[in-house]
Amino acid sequence: MNRPLGEITRGTTNPNRLRRVDRWIAYRLGPALSAVESPLVVDLGYGATPITAVELAYRLARFRPRVVGLEIDPVRVAQAQPAADPPRLEFRRGGFELAGLRPQVVRAFNVLRQYDESAVLAAWRTMTGSLADGGWLVEGTCDELGRLATWATLPADAQTPVSLTLAARLSTLESPATFAERLPKALIHRNVPGEPVHELLRALDGCWQRSAPMGVFGPRQRWVRTVEEFRALGYAVLDGPVRWRMGELTLPWPA
Ligand SMILES: C[S@@+](CC[C@H](N)C(=O)[O-])C[C@H]1O[C@@H](n2cnc3c(N)ncnc32)[C@H](O)[C@@H]1O
Repeated sequence: MNRPLGEITRGTTNPNRLRRVDRWIAYRLGPALSAVESPLVVDLGYGATPITAVELAYRLARFRPRVVGLEIDPVRVAQAQPAADPPRLEFRRGGFELAGLRPQVVRAFNVLRQYDESAVLAAWRTMTGSLADGGWLVEGTCDELGRLATWATLPADAQTPVSLTLAARLSTLESPATFAERLPKALIHRNVPGEPVHELLRALDGCWQRSAPMGVFGPRQRWVRTVEEFRALGYAVLDGPVRWRMGELTLPWPA
């Protein structure tokens, strides 16, 4: 086997930390999984324990995918084997080249954040070039407990994402400015004045502040009003109130 592409990095993970992105994958990419006979999902870089890959398989079970956890660290691959349940769930060694697999969906979470920003484009290109036709890469970052998460979504063969999703546990969201610490690697260093992502977070934060009176009805109502205001400023928003109430907001990448 050729050497997997990438580097071994810290393996920090936590049960349930990827629930927000998993929920979104089921909602948004479930149809792409249902459209094929034997869908394949890769969890790239599952970390020191395979728990988030086990959870992904469980959360996507209704689409009957085969889930393969890929890790570049052979020790972590060996340690994950007791959690395997083939063909439903397997663990193998692999990197950005996806170990020769052609999945419909790749979830790569908290992997690129430990790389240099300069490595992002090549990693995206390698992963999207290995997807099945019509496949999707979901690449993002979250905090330790999964209360704040952001992710970029790229179709097969793309070098540029089509969307950016911000997702938070609303009951603990202080302000949308806190998303800045958890942006995907491609954006995290661009949160400086003059860059679109900085202006976007500032605008969203302003809407959150102005929506404070809605807080008496709970944080969901406040977030829904925040997104409505944000849209009224001219920002395109790709999802609707059902997703907003879950603390999500998906925007077209050009925004
Ligand atoms: C911080 S852990 C993330 C664990 C899990 N995805 C999560 O979000 O909780 C990052 C893991 O990615 C692995 N990794 C880094 N680069 C990789 C690559 N190119 N291919 C596969 N795994 C990689 C590291 O070895 C590490 O175990």
